[in-house]
Amino acid sequence: MELPGKVAVVTGGGNGIGAALARRLTTEGARVVVADLDVKAAGRVAAEIGGVAVETDVAREEDVLRLIDLTEEQLGPVELFCANAGIAFPGDEQASDDDWDRMWRVNFLSHVYAARHLVPAWRTRGSGYLLVTASAAGLLTNIGAAQYTVTKHAAVAFAEWLSITYASEGIKVSCLCPQGVETRMLDEAGEMAVLLRATALTPDQVANKVIEGIAAETFLILPHPEVGEFLRNKASDPERWLASMRRLHHNVFKTTKMGE
Ligand SMILES: NC(=O)c1ccc[n+]([C@@H]2O[C@H](COP(=O)([O-])OP(=O)(O)OC[C@H]3O[C@@H](n4cnc5c(N)ncnc54)[C@H](O)[C@@H]3O)[C@@H](O)[C@H]2O)c1
Repeated sequence: MELPGKVAVVTGGGNGIGAALARRLTTEGARVVVADLDVKAAGRVAAEIGGVAVETDVAREEDVLRLIDLTEEQLGPVELFCANAGIAFPGDEQASDDDWDRMWRVNFLSHVYAARHLVPAWRTRGSGYLLVTASAAGLLTNIGAAQYTVTKHAAVAFAEWLSITYASEGIKVSCLCPQGVETRMLDEAGEMAVLLRATALTPDQVANKVIEGIAAETFLILPHPEVGEFLRNKASDPERWLASMRRLHHNVFKTTKMGE
């Protein structure tokens, strides 16, 4: 996609990867709406880039619809929607239904809400671009974070499904799957942070990769190329990959008996 003049929305645009993306999209000539639950952060980024800030909770369908409507009123039809907002916290099978539900809504259902209200108009126009920020956790697994892993897998699956279903009608989909990125989320990643920080990228580096990916209309955007290698390892020998992930889990938490 050529970005100059395009109307782009970035959710979770007030901080981290979303803020870097909003800045880069602006320098590429897009007109950007910065949507975030944290309206002050969204306002700061929007003021800096000459964009529009909209308070949005992506977990609420009515907020996503309002965001699309406000964008269309102020700037025109949404041409690029970066569904980037996400949350992470550690958890396992003992987590409460409320914790599963919160993560499910923000990390997965938000993408359904966006697609539900964008795809019909994009099909009519024969164009539209959805960028889903998932994670390497959506392709591999995030040690110690069951809810994050499951909801990011769902986000990848939905992005794939949309791409397969609507590519012939001119709708493009990219799925961003970074490993560690130096944002507040990484600061709160607990035991995994030490491991992820070793290869962490800056939000600006990730935003640069996204711009390249959108220009090339690549489905899978992997700012850490090793994630592609891990994915190939997983596909070619799942048993071996699982054994290596169990070892990693053991090394990170030192709580499980390996028996191998
Ligand atoms: N940082 C990493 O290491 C990393 C790695 C892989 C994927 N990701 C993904 O990248 C995306 C951005 O994360 P980040 O690292 O920039 O985190 P961040 O915490 O720095 O920024 C996330 C932004 O999303 C906003 N947000 C949270 N819940 C929201 C909601 N319900 N509605 C609207 N906005 C909401 C927050 O206010 C914040 O501004 C997330 O989807 C995350 O899962 C991050």
